[in-house]
Amino acid sequence: MVDYFLSIWEKYSLPFAICELGGGDGTFALQFGNIMRKRGKNNIQYIFVEQNEWGRQNVLKNLPRTWDVQVFTTIDDFINSHSHFNGIIFSNEFLDAQPVRVIEKSSDEIYEIYITMDKQLKLTETKRPCSEDLLYLIADFDLEITNGQRIEVPIYINPIMSKISRLLREGFVITVDYGYLKQDWEVPSRREGSLRGYYKHQLNKNVLNHVGEMDITHHVHWEPWIAEGNKHGLTCRGLVRQNEFLLHHCNILQYLKSNNSTDAFSGEAKRNRAIRSLILDDGLSQLFDVCIQQKKSSSG
Ligand SMILES: C[S@@+](CC[C@H](N)C(=O)[O-])C[C@H]1O[C@@H](n2cnc3c(N)ncnc32)[C@H](O)[C@@H]1O
Repeated sequence: MVDYFLSIWEKYSLPFAICELGGGDGTFALQFGNIMRKRGKNNIQYIFVEQNEWGRQNVLKNLPRTWDVQVFTTIDDFINSHSHFNGIIFSNEFLDAQPVRVIEKSSDEIYEIYITMDKQLKLTETKRPCSEDLLYLIADFDLEITNGQRIEVPIYINPIMSKISRLLREGFVITVDYGYLKQDWEVPSRREGSLRGYYKHQLNKNVLNHVGEMDITHHVHWEPWIAEGNKHGLTCRGLVRQNEFLLHHCNILQYLKSNNSTDAFSGEAKRNRAIRSLILDDGLSQLFDVCIQQKKSSSG
């Protein structure tokens, strides 16, 4: 990733600046910092947007002292303190954590799924005919839904993309996430949508369980994300599986170490195994996509 960022900063004469959205506990930022430090890059601007206080403090304390590190709780806070940003806006599993509304179609009618409380004070679902504002968004996103199907409406796409495009004058938006294209939603096993909860790292399909304690995620709708970017002057330069991205954009194979040792637990063997798991088709990397969008300055 470091090599990829360096290559686009240099190729497009962009400032060495990165804005990470939803950076969590700061793991990516700190690993990035360590590698850049080893390469002698002492003049990076790192903007870390994360609502979690601990993550922000971790990044402030541990990124290289010579860098211009700034942390913000929300994108709005960042916008309020900067008129614009040039560089790379990066996120990993940020969009899948954003709020969605859920719709279902039955008897040719689109319903929205709401949550209510039953007499035993248990959270339960209830259906109501879909509101006009949501129907407008469904049409705008060109979401297709058939009878018996349920799907999430990514209501966050417009607000987030318009904030990003207001900030970014020139540079790239690199978004790593789980996502589907239109045809992927047609697969029978996905007819119930993609909303899932993770409780103590275990998948829990009922998002009403463990309220407030589960990490709730959904798959990003890539076409609306890309289309909204286009409306705001961001051109999609590619949407690829993470393993293809690592092979073709990051040249990951250069990091394989020749290993003559028979020790399966040697440093080289472990490193080579980790690289293999990132690029094999049946690895975890297959589940993630990387969306690359570029905004050129209006003067250039
Ligand atoms: C699924 S986690 C991903 C964390 C990290 N990027 C990673 O890959 O491990 C999503 C993160 O986004 C943060 N987040 C979600 N919505 C946010 C928002 N609107 N503003 C700032 N942070 C947000 C959450 O606090 C959480 O740390």
